[in-house]
Amino acid sequence: MRLHGATALVTGANRDLGRHFAEQLLHRGAAKVYATARRPELVDLPGAEVLPLDVTDPASVAAAAAAAGDVDVLINNAGVSLGVNLVGGDLDKIRLTLDTHFYGTLAMIRAFAPVLAGNGGGAILNVLSVLSFQSLVGNNAYAVAKSAQWALTNGVRLELADQGTLVTGLVFGPTATETMKAYADKALEGGTLPDGVLNDPVDIVRTALDGVEAGKIEILADDFGVAAKASLTGDPSGFVLETASAG
Ligand SMILES: NC(=O)c1ccc[n+]([C@@H]2O[C@H](COP(=O)([O-])OP(=O)(O)OC[C@H]3O[C@@H](n4cnc5c(N)ncnc54)[C@H](OP(=O)(O)O)[C@@H]3O)[C@@H](O)[C@H]2O)c1
Repeated sequence: MRLHGATALVTGANRDLGRHFAEQLLHRGAAKVYATARRPELVDLPGAEVLPLDVTDPASVAAAAAAAGDVDVLINNAGVSLGVNLVGGDLDKIRLTLDTHFYGTLAMIRAFAPVLAGNGGGAILNVLSVLSFQSLVGNNAYAVAKSAQWALTNGVRLELADQGTLVTGLVFGPTATETMKAYADKALEGGTLPDGVLNDPVDIVRTALDGVEAGKIEILADDFGVAAKASLTGDPSGFVLETASAG
């Protein structure tokens, strides 16, 4: 999928990985980039078209699809990481996690599939995680949601094959965004991660966009992603930060 000249829409583009996606798409020569956010006033990206979008709100998703009928690249990046377990965790937070990652991604794809078809097929990139393949005590609801999002990615790929839409999953591990840094600080209880363990978001986004341009259906963007995917051949396991270094 050629990104130069494409018209892309990125969810959660006001900060961190989403902002990097929108920025790098512009640098790659995208003709138009819709940088969407539930608080659009927070989007600060010269050259981007700003749209309000909450992926958990059906009316907001429908309005975005109506306003952005020229999209041929959809990047489902928006996410929450609420640090809840399944057995003892707050059920509303578990539901919000699934509403965002699974139902939010599904709503966006259902709304934009006809748009993509009308614009030649295009591409969808779903931002997954190593926790699509592994569990993590302290954030198991997120792992469930990311696992469901992976299965969704694979199912939608088959369903949209006839309209020529490339559907790609992006798998990677801990990356230095504000949310991840806050989560790591809390999880480590005052300890710090060694330098270089967290990915640079710039590198992850570059690898992701290279993968879309190359037509890949799954991108294992770092050593964490490679190790997590390989772990599926063994017994189910938890994610262990020490088993791989970022790369
Ligand atoms: N960082 C990592 O280590 C890592 C690793 C693997 C996968 N990922 C995945 O990468 C993606 C981005 O992660 P990140 O670390 O950049 O996350 P982040 O810093 O928490 O940013 C999340 C973005 O999603 C937006 N968002 C949340 N709920 C939304 C909703 N209902 N509708 C629209 N936008 C919504 C947030 O908007 P607000 O500003 O309004 O909250 C924010 O812009 C997520 O899907 C995450 O699961 C991250």
